[in-house]
Amino acid sequence: MKILVTGGCGFMGSNFIRFQLQNDPTVEIINLDKLTYAGNLANLADVADNPRYRFVRGDINDQALVDSLMPGVDAVVNYAAETHVDRSIMEPRAFLEANVMGVQTLLDAVRKHNVSRMVHISTDEVFGHVEEGETDEDAPFRPRSPYSASKAAGDHLCHAHFVTYGTPVIVTHSVNYYGPYHFPEKLIPLFTLNLMDGKKVPVYGDGMQVREWIFTEDHCRAIDAILRRGTVGEVYNIGTGERVPNIEITKKLIALTGRDESHIEYVKDRPGHDRRYALNSEKLRRELGWAPQVSFDEGLARTVEWFRQNQAWWEPIRTGEYLKYYDSWYRDQLDASDNV
Ligand code: TYD
Repeated sequence: MKILVTGGCGFMGSNFIRFQLQNDPTVEIINLDKLTYAGNLANLADVADNPRYRFVRGDINDQALVDSLMPGVDAVVNYAAETHVDRSIMEPRAFLEANVMGVQTLLDAVRKHNVSRMVHISTDEVFGHVEEGETDEDAPFRPRSPYSASKAAGDHLCHAHFVTYGTPVIVTHSVNYYGPYHFPEKLIPLFTLNLMDGKKVPVYGDGMQVREWIFTEDHCRAIDAILRRGTVGEVYNIGTGERVPNIEITKKLIALTGRDESHIEYVKDRPGHDRRYALNSEKLRRELGWAPQVSFDEGLARTVEWFRQNQAWWEPIRTGEYLKYYDSWYRDQLDASDNV
């Protein structure tokens, strides 16, 4: 199988490419990535010379380029996206370009070139926050951030394409994903690295917001099952049931890094902060026989250990554009002396 993976130099996409190359000796991968701030060739340095892997630098909105890659491609897996909620609050436009127009361009190409299927990676955030209970695949979209609104629009386009043109697309909604190579603007890697450095960690609001978490390998296994055995036109939730308040994660990370609670700094809450996400993922378990294998505690310990052993990966990232973003987003929240 020849797979075009978009956004393959990002956190999720790079883990998926490595997983495919390791687990299927016949798979061939083309990785189309724009190399924005979050795309990093170092994420795939270990497979760069693999003859079954090819990297192409470019934008999913570049229709001519996307068309030129399609001949011989059996499947497209779309990881390309702007993903960070806080950045979407600062600058929403880039989110619409990648997460809406980019999806349209890929859907057009899949249709035009008769690609057998496209898996579109989306998020539980399209459902908005869930005060109690769980959202299943049929729940209405109620996005509340520029990020989740752009992802919801992309998901609607996928559904519309399937209904209108029969484009063979599958949409996945995933809970929060964490593990090795996670870009350190997100909660788990940011707090891990700040704590390892002896810095404070900025907990938004009261820290009682709840997210559901999945480890990289479990997510890769889920996408693999959906790619190979999922039904086109369908939607699959991908979750673990491991729902943890942010402050509890913070305390676990403090324990794993050998720090104490004086490192916690409660800061101004994120505007429009979703209080809780919780997905019902029974369909994926029932229909495709998938189940998570890594508990949150095990995954978190493995993640912290990975960051401990891979300073050469994260050190160059925590400079330049990253510091500019960090300073501007947290400027009014953390002492300047506590900055990374
Ligand atoms: P994040 O990793 O940005 O993922 P998402 O917003 O897509 O769920 O944030 C996870 C949770 O952690 C979310 O409730 C916001 C919170 N958070 C903080 O409290 N402080 C931070 O500095 C960051 C980045 C996130």
